[in-house]
Amino acid sequence: MRTPLIAGNWKMNNNMTESMELVDNLIQLTKNFNKNVEILICPPFTALFSIKNSINDSVIKLGAQNMHFEEKGAYTGEVSPMMLHDIGVEYVIIGHSERRQLFNETDDLINKKLKAALKYGIKPILCVGETLGQRESGIEKSIIKNQITNAFNDINDKDSAKVIIAYEPIWAIGTGKNATSNQANEMASFIRKTVSELYGELVSQNMIIQYGGSVKVNNANEILSQNDIDGALIGGASLKAEDFYKIINSAQ
Ligand code: PGA
Repeated sequence: MRTPLIAGNWKMNNNMTESMELVDNLIQLTKNFNKNVEILICPPFTALFSIKNSINDSVIKLGAQNMHFEEKGAYTGEVSPMMLHDIGVEYVIIGHSERRQLFNETDDLINKKLKAALKYGIKPILCVGETLGQRESGIEKSIIKNQITNAFNDINDKDSAKVIIAYEPIWAIGTGKNATSNQANEMASFIRKTVSELYGELVSQNMIIQYGGSVKVNNANEILSQNDIDGALIGGASLKAEDFYKIINSAQ
């Protein structure tokens, strides 16, 4: 049984007051939540520590949106896996398409970050996704397969089982244009097949594979009811507690 993971990627949004208000609202809404669904929020670095303290007695888990792969050193402006682990961060988003596109993150860098997260016991959410042009030229599957193969380079079976994959077609992120549930499920099952080729059926059948890209209250149910989709990575709609909670409740 795979437990669905509903994750909010706040991106570079919310000042401290707004962050705490959003978290307080979520804590209230999820007070009696007892479904078999994992709830995760990924706020900006500056809010992680305070949020950790306020969600301690709740069902909400904490993740970061990025990290460096080294433990410490002369890397001005970076945050390490050791630092995240130290304050109780349990998850980290790795290789989000915005990091790949706007901050030139390569497959090799993403592989290093994935290994570093695993070393520190932080659960990585590896993002993969194709551009519109790649989908239109019919190469989306080979793009995804490459991204996965490169990201998992030199990662052993035991560690591979701890990775979560988020399929996020770039053309669907923040555009209001979500993939159809069929497109999303087809790619999720292709990702499962790719993982099975690398690590076998057991790892692949147990792997959490999320969909991300314009998941909203009105399409969450349909997307989350697909066989190979085990949750969602949500940007915009995770910034409103009521919307995020409704999406959480669509998970099954
Ligand atoms: P969106 O973002 O839900 O705003 O499309 C998703 C993401 O980038 O993870």
